[in-house]
Amino acid sequence: MELELIFPNEEYRKEVELFKKNMLDNNSRMDGCGSLRIDDFDTWLERCIDYKDGKNTPNNMPPYIQYICIRKNDNKVIGMLQIRHKEINPIFGNIGYCIAFDERGKGYSKMMLKLGLKECKKLNLDKVMINCLVTNEASRRCILANGGVLLDRMFVKERNYDIERYYIYLDKGM
Ligand SMILES: CC(C)(COP(=O)(O)OP(=O)(O)OC[C@H]1O[C@@H](n2cnc3c(N)ncnc32)[C@H](O)[C@@H]1OP(=O)(O)O)[C@@H](O)C(=O)NCCC(=O)NCCS
Repeated sequence: MELELIFPNEEYRKEVELFKKNMLDNNSRMDGCGSLRIDDFDTWLERCIDYKDGKNTPNNMPPYIQYICIRKNDNKVIGMLQIRHKEINPIFGNIGYCIAFDERGKGYSKMMLKLGLKECKKLNLDKVMINCLVTNEASRRCILANGGVLLDRMFVKERNYDIERYYIYLDKGM
């Protein structure tokens, strides 16, 4: 199944709204979706455009690039991925992502992260930090499948949870 990462645009309004509904209806985490949980499509898109260049970011939040992941045969938004390319946040790392609730368990997160790493290379990063909750087995396996090397395990006091932090080194040949 072929997937593609693209920057959000008006053409995908309906698909993004369906994705959001699917996540909210299933009470899912929405990592790597920016403000989509709380914003309507127009506001979310505006923020994606602004934040990419670090414009109007709240509380000095670093810029990020938001991607939607399209399944090419039916144009469905099957996931979202965000790259925080300028600064590494020690808790959230460089990349966040999620897969539509009704599309999980098909290997899509592994494929989508692989595409995300290619984007990171284009952004001239030579390694990325990706973190997951210690309880998130699917995300851990996704990171490991893409070459993740465990850096450490860390207790995040302000959130009262443990995370694992990984580096992925981006080879020239990727
Ligand atoms: C984590 C998430 C992205 C995984 O997406 P997915 O497309 O279902 O994952 P994949 O199908 O690519 O599977 C990845 C690996 O996890 C395993 N896996 C999938 N679902 C699993 C589950 N519920 N429990 C344990 N392992 C699971 C798969 O077998 C695969 O492992 P393998 O390579 O050893 O076979 C998805 O569950 C999600 O969006 N969760 C909410 C947001 C989130 O947690 N994001 C990550 C933040 S760090």
